[in-house]
Amino acid sequence: VASRLTVLKLGGSVITDKTKEFTPSTETIARIMKEISTTEDESLIIVHGGGSYGHPLAKLYRLSNGHTNQTQILGFARTRQAMMDLNKIILDSAIENHLPCISVQPSAFIRTRNRRIEDIDLRIVSGLMDLHMIPVMFGDVVLDMQLGFSILSGDQLASRLAIELGAKRMILAADVDGVFDSDPKTNPKAYLMERMTTQDAEALIEREKQDDRGSDVTGRMMGKIKEMLAAVEKGIQVVVLNGCVPGRISNALTGRRTIGTVIER
Ligand code: IPE
Repeated sequence: VASRLTVLKLGGSVITDKTKEFTPSTETIARIMKEISTTEDESLIIVHGGGSYGHPLAKLYRLSNGHTNQTQILGFARTRQAMMDLNKIILDSAIENHLPCISVQPSAFIRTRNRRIEDIDLRIVSGLMDLHMIPVMFGDVVLDMQLGFSILSGDQLASRLAIELGAKRMILAADVDGVFDSDPKTNPKAYLMERMTTQDAEALIEREKQDDRGSDVTGRMMGKIKEMLAAVEKGIQVVVLNGCVPGRISNALTGRRTIGTVIER
């Protein structure tokens, strides 16, 4: 099972309207679930982000700082609840499309230490996959051994799952066409890199560090790439693509060429 595994991360910007709190992109979610259902015999794990469900609450209660005051405790609960609400919308759509998706809540089997995954118990997830079920996880609020709690991003989770379970491929669905040499949302001349090696990615990360504006020159893509690199180094192919455009996720799931960026060792 493991060598055929694909980990699909659905970015929060794809499955929600990031400009309006608690607004799912219902049609996009349905279309993506339909696309997945046409690619049957894959072994698949889905991880989704928080978008306008998780992030506003996490920010309001400053959860990324860790536990600093008691009002955050309700914030932790509310953020989890918002993620569960979004997760339910995704699961409803998956089941409607006859996908055997099972929600697995990350903080019940993962703890972090200073924001990085420290313990992860994959027995349940592996067992579900042995029965050809599709585990669905999400960026979550989790217990942190140093900070009390922290936010675990869907990107860190997806990358770690891909490594631990020996995935062949990880697909990162974002709201841009792939990795560009500059921010495609502000620079019309931004160039889409169709192929990248770990070296190319490291060079881009380095350029980012040198950038005195301290901004993310690639439009917030670098944080994601950093998370993915550990998986790329293990020989896992990473495909960054636009999940808002029909057909690209199903193309990537079936190993067909599609518009996007392929990152390989
Ligand atoms: C965020 O997950 C989860 C919470 C805020 C609890 P991600 O960081 O993976 O979400 P997106 O994809 O950026 O929206």
